[in-house]
Amino acid sequence: MADNTEAADAVGAVTDPAFDVPLERLGMPAGVDLDGSTARVRIRTPAPDLPGRDELEARILTALAPLGVNEVELHQVDMSDDEIRKVLDVIGHVPSVSGTRDSAFKTGRSHARVVAVSSGKGGVGKSSITANLAVALARSGAAVGVLDADVWGFSIPRMIGVDRPPSMVGVGDTGMIIPPVAHGVRVVSMGFFTDEDTPVMWRGPMLHKAMEQFLVDVHWGELDFLLVDMPPGTGDVSISMSQFLPTAEVVVVTTPQPAAGRVAQRAGKMAENVDQHLIGVIENMSWFETPEGGRLTIFGEGGGTELAEDLGVPLLGQVPLDEGLRVGSDVGTPVAVSDPEAPASRALTDIAERIKGIVPRRIRRPELKIRQV
Ligand SMILES: Nc1ncnc2c1ncn2[C@@H]1O[C@H](COP(=O)(O)OP(=O)(O)OP(=O)(O)O)[C@@H](O)[C@H]1O
Ligand SMILES: [Mg+2]
Repeated sequence: MADNTEAADAVGAVTDPAFDVPLERLGMPAGVDLDGSTARVRIRTPAPDLPGRDELEARILTALAPLGVNEVELHQVDMSDDEIRKVLDVIGHVPSVSGTRDSAFKTGRSHARVVAVSSGKGGVGKSSITANLAVALARSGAAVGVLDADVWGFSIPRMIGVDRPPSMVGVGDTGMIIPPVAHGVRVVSMGFFTDEDTPVMWRGPMLHKAMEQFLVDVHWGELDFLLVDMPPGTGDVSISMSQFLPTAEVVVVTTPQPAAGRVAQRAGKMAENVDQHLIGVIENMSWFETPEGGRLTIFGEGGGTELAEDLGVPLLGQVPLDEGLRVGSDVGTPVAVSDPEAPASRALTDIAERIKGIVPRRIRRPELKIRQV
């Protein structure tokens, strides 16, 4: 017969989904009472609404199943300020008073590849592609985060189906933002901090601060990929991002019209000017597949190939027009999850694999020079 100590050890070894750290190290376990096949598990928590509580319960159940447990009752107990400080310490929170505001992505503490999805003009499908690539990468086993850097036109939370805001874990004026998770992807967006119907009219310096916070004060955990959904064009946010994420790789999204490619070229040149590494072009809305199996090239042909040649990078793939992709973005279930066999999903999964296969260039120039474009 299993005893409570044995059960407590098993619970302590469970990794918390919000922090990616075993519960014991975070000081979270507060006791287990076994009652037949039911386990009453008390967990100290640094915030009442941490993401991943259902997942945590499932993980605890799996850990206790060998002890004959088939039901877990999770009871949350608030942490004291000292206990919260310990959590912040364990997850590597760097208090801003220490003076350094460089994110783990900039200092090299994170091994994540940062991939910015950009375009010269709006409406070409950057956000849809970002959301679908993120879930495709997550389905392939990668740890993925999405930073929605489109502060004015944020759309990622809706597209990827995040239905809750992040949690804040903090004491006094120091703390961290714990991002919500959807389809296995951690998501941060300006959309969580403003009301959707209010336009964001921040000026450059404030945007710069917001982007810095999203990178420094968010607990992204050990990611393999951080995808960044860029706003259209080459404005303030793009310049800030290139300073915060100098090792970012950039993909440029375009449509098949050669004229669209010329605009997208500017985004590509911008990436080169700020020393970010351009890794490829994605052509979106390439054709519409008719029920008879024919292809209608509604937006013309050749734009993606032409742009890739101009920029001297590969065409990573062509994504067809797909009603399921549009509907998926509207209802918050990306098509790559709801219908992985749809032509657009297959194209996006192939692109995700190609991106995984690229060996990132890790050489960072010591000083970043920004030329006007
Ligand atoms: N391959 C596709 N098939 C069908 N609809 C698509 C496809 N790609 C994008 N869309 C739709 O086109 C619209 C614009 O896409 P999206 O919002 O992803 O573009 P964007 O480049 O992020 O735009 P913005 O510049 O406004 O941020 C959305 O309604 C989206 O659902
Ligand atoms: Mg967008």
